[in-house]
Amino acid sequence: MKGHDTALVDVSDEVLAKSKLAITKSLGRIQEKFSQDPKYGYLEGAEVFMSSALKRLTLTTDMKAFVESADIVIESIVENIDAKKKLFAEVDKVAAPKCIFASNTSSLPIAEIASATNRKDRFGGLHFFNPVPVMRLLEVISPKAISPDTLRALLSFGTDLGKQCVVCKDTPGFIVNRLLMPYLGEAVRMLERGDATAKEIDQAMEMGTGYPMGPFKLADYIGLDIVKLILDGWHKRFPENRIFQPITVLDKLVSTGKLGRKTGEGFYKY
Ligand code: 3HC
Repeated sequence: MKGHDTALVDVSDEVLAKSKLAITKSLGRIQEKFSQDPKYGYLEGAEVFMSSALKRLTLTTDMKAFVESADIVIESIVENIDAKKKLFAEVDKVAAPKCIFASNTSSLPIAEIASATNRKDRFGGLHFFNPVPVMRLLEVISPKAISPDTLRALLSFGTDLGKQCVVCKDTPGFIVNRLLMPYLGEAVRMLERGDATAKEIDQAMEMGTGYPMGPFKLADYIGLDIVKLILDGWHKRFPENRIFQPITVLDKLVSTGKLGRKTGEGFYKY
């Protein structure tokens, strides 16, 4: 959307086909918005915007072909430290020396992921928020070993994408998730105790604090498997911290495949 030639690399053509559908749908919503905005010359300009954005996007399973000439690689795979390290060790072998690496991890230490590479000074975090085309925030994570040039480049890239960048230290959950995940967990515990229903808690938080979505709508939107993965990961690292303890209701929903919007059911049915 911002003019960068982009390759989306994933493990299978099936996943890429799903991604293409989601991207086309999202661009369609933006195109529709632009089509009513005189700034973009009404429909004609909006169509050009969408087709040229799609032309700049390559979807592929061939990581090497694109990484060789990339200026930046942003990883957004499963929230598992070993999988991320393995991937970056491979990418490090093919990427040009000038190429900057960034992880979109929600909760894992950037420095530990970077330790799998020989470019710790050119490695940072770019943490985006769902839905990415709409949410203005970008957390730019600055681990100890990052060079001033790399941090500057990440901030400039984020600003160029139209995001408001906030620099965060490499601490668990950075800023947003360190506050958001315990809040979501506490909401589920409140439900578990029978203090109120999910609908009541959501209504209270939406109307009482102005959040666009209450905690249960938001947890369903993020994906309950993701919320659980993040909290469980921190529980393993900080077993003494009560706030990261496993939550029975959440565990049950995830183990029965009720992961939120993406599976049609979570705390709510969709
Ligand atoms: N692609 C493109 N545009 C989209 C979109 C998408 N996927 N989703 C929404 N939009 C656009 C719509 O076109 C609309 O544009 P307009 O107002 O200019 O017409 C606008 O966004 C609002 O969308 P809707 O009218 O459909 O719906 P809402 O007004 O209810 O907004 C929402 C939807 C933006 C999702 C809002 O409910 C919201 O902000 N929710 C909270 C989201 C949030 O907290 N995200 C952070 C999650 S945490 C995270 O991501 C971190 C991770 O590590 C876990």
